[in-house]
Amino acid sequence: MNRRDLMTGMVVAGTTLLVTPEGSAAAEPSRAPGTPGHGKHAVAPLPFNPAKLKGLSEKLLRSHHENNYGGAVKNLNKVEEELARVTKDTPGFLVGGLKERELTFTNSMILHEAYFGNLGGDGKAGGSIQKLLAAAHGDFGRWEEHFRATGASLGGGSGWVILTYNFHSGQPQTYWSGNHTQALAHGHPLLVMDMYEHAYQMDYGAAAARYIDAFFQNVNWDVVNARLERAQKAAAALRG
Ligand SMILES: [Fe+2]
Repeated sequence: MNRRDLMTGMVVAGTTLLVTPEGSAAAEPSRAPGTPGHGKHAVAPLPFNPAKLKGLSEKLLRSHHENNYGGAVKNLNKVEEELARVTKDTPGFLVGGLKERELTFTNSMILHEAYFGNLGGDGKAGGSIQKLLAAAHGDFGRWEEHFRATGASLGGGSGWVILTYNFHSGQPQTYWSGNHTQALAHGHPLLVMDMYEHAYQMDYGAAAARYIDAFFQNVNWDVVNARLERAQKAAAALRG
């Protein structure tokens, strides 16, 4: 098992999905990870030209990337610096608070990188993921209806919709998450849709359904297929 496979296989509640400035579809090579515990995580650049997406404005995308994703990365670094100072004498309520924030900001970083990483495409589904989802749901449109409905259920609130490769079942499954810390315990995100209002309010107000339409117009299905392929390899490695 090489390092990439090892990283991909060690997925708990999201984990190692990383993006590149180019957003290269099939490859989507990872940027070098930060050093956990030492506050060295870096903000990855947007993997697409934000002026070129359909129905999502450059202003919205840059604000989302800089303030929400970038804020999570910077806050994670600060939390890790504080955790490095924890000793056996640190009050439990301080340790617990920092550890909760560590998980929240870590998942926010990972999920935002996956989200931006699966945008910038033409929205035309294809490949192995389309076949798998069509087989599981009767047809691909039925899966999309389910994914969209899950997103709509979060409209006006906050959370994520994540098509995840479930290592327990060996199948992709759509999951709901009401915050950054409810991701599947043993899965690999394949397609991530941010349903926090900051992802669409600037362009669509409270009209979450219009944002979901725009999201699907920009999905990079080549990236989703590449993630599926890596997850399937990791699943094989995990089976030993
Ligand atoms: Fe977000």
